[in-house]
Amino acid sequence: MTTLPWWQTAVFYQLYLRSFADNNDDGIGDLQGVIAHLDYLQELGISAIWLSPHYPSPRVDDGYDVSDYLNVHPDYGSLDDFRQLLDAAHARGMRVLADLIPNHTSDQHPWFQASRRRQEPYTDFYVWSDDNQRYGDARIIFLDTETSNWAWDELRGQYYWHRFYRQQPDLNYDNPLVQEAMLDVMRFWLDLGLDGFRVDAVPYLFEREGTNCENLPETHAFLKRMRAMMEAEYPHAVLMSEANQPPMETLRYFGGKPGHPDVPGDEFHMCLHFPLMPRLFMALARADRSPIVEILQRCSPIPKNAQWATFLRNHDELTLEMVTPEERDWMWQVYAPEPRMRLNLGIRRRLAPLLDNDRQKIELMFSLLFTLPGAPVIYYGDEIGMGDNSWLPDRNGVRTPMQWDDTLNAGFSVARDLPTPVIDDPVYGYHRVNVRAQWSDPNSLLQRIRQFIHVARAYPLLATGDMEVIQHDEPALFAFYRTDGTTKVLCLHNLGESALQISTPAGADLLTGERIGPGPLQLPAFGFRWIKV
Ligand code: GLC
Ligand code: CA
Repeated sequence: MTTLPWWQTAVFYQLYLRSFADNNDDGIGDLQGVIAHLDYLQELGISAIWLSPHYPSPRVDDGYDVSDYLNVHPDYGSLDDFRQLLDAAHARGMRVLADLIPNHTSDQHPWFQASRRRQEPYTDFYVWSDDNQRYGDARIIFLDTETSNWAWDELRGQYYWHRFYRQQPDLNYDNPLVQEAMLDVMRFWLDLGLDGFRVDAVPYLFEREGTNCENLPETHAFLKRMRAMMEAEYPHAVLMSEANQPPMETLRYFGGKPGHPDVPGDEFHMCLHFPLMPRLFMALARADRSPIVEILQRCSPIPKNAQWATFLRNHDELTLEMVTPEERDWMWQVYAPEPRMRLNLGIRRRLAPLLDNDRQKIELMFSLLFTLPGAPVIYYGDEIGMGDNSWLPDRNGVRTPMQWDDTLNAGFSVARDLPTPVIDDPVYGYHRVNVRAQWSDPNSLLQRIRQFIHVARAYPLLATGDMEVIQHDEPALFAFYRTDGTTKVLCLHNLGESALQISTPAGADLLTGERIGPGPLQLPAFGFRWIKV
């Protein structure tokens, strides 16, 4: 058997630095706080962490507005702390990914400040124009805040282009110096020992008149350059794309030749599976597997040397940008009954509240995450069923402090004032929902997720194996085989609230160890089984 690259079978943990653990008692999560909790992640079975942006930033977009690519935000520590984190993670056999934000900087970045003044070599580092009507076919992404992708700069006397907040001017990738500068940023962190990047907002790097300025050939060409540099200089490291696009467009970020899995991918090793994510919630709400089955068909095959990064939730709103307007309205009704739960074209809620804190449904969704093709990414706190706070502005409500225990501030920090309050309601509050309590309770969600992770890591075919969907008259039954040619696992999911009577071949339940079948099996409401046959 050939050995697979580590990231194809990894279990990722998306860690929101600011809210994970505060080590120096200033109320803000930091790198030393992460180091102090690596044992937890290791015990959980995590193989790689993805850190939210750690760079200096005025934080208009919570760090996605970088003002210095080559340093650490003083709130989070120093470059030395970053090195220490890499060493400490590596010593435990864990990898570390950072966020890379190539599309835009903060307006406070020295490059932008120099560009405003037309100082060389930065004059053309950004997309400047006398005319704010150019590229009029590009959509506005932060719909709730911005009305144009252009903003006026008094000093330079021109407009500059920005796909996100106006404080995030887009870099000009037509300028070869910008391309070089970004490759050097990558080298800087990879030289420190970083294991890869989750690359932010990749579809928007270039602009061309008469297009929607997304997924342009020029953008793909630069991303291939990025990959070629990685292959040549850091072959162990991984690039994961954030491209929230329709299936065909998302697939193109793997590179290679769509539809031809034997042609090696030459762009991203991994793509976050944005097409699948909303369909998981759709299928559950409709008690019908077809949205999932359909999207998986449309999203395959991928190059053999690539992998999906699957996820249920992340630090942003649950995006509904890529579903039809009818589906979006219906999803909003089902999953975001209060207007304050909606943001832009999505839903700003966490996993547990989205699923009415129904333990069965939460486990079912995690079961899908672990048994469908791809490497799962867990959003911090979802492993204990943390809640959200939709009264907080923007996406802050899904970024609240990690609930470690039932002491002051959930054990996150001993500071008097926290920039983002801890969840403290009767249902999701830290007195009830916290790591310490769940760690010692064998029946907790946390221990369940830990078990999923351990089984998933013991059966890499759940990440990389082939998938065969079993046709069945009952739409709520989502049954499929995963196989690597030698071992075969039957995955059963009941997406509905009525128990299902099915018949199974003989096998062993991977989660309970029980012998099963051959014969009839009852799958309770929202039940699931992983059966090695
Ligand atoms: C990505 C990030 C999001 C950020 C945006 C702009 O979508 O996930 O948090 O606001 O890019 O950088
Ligand atoms: Ca701190």
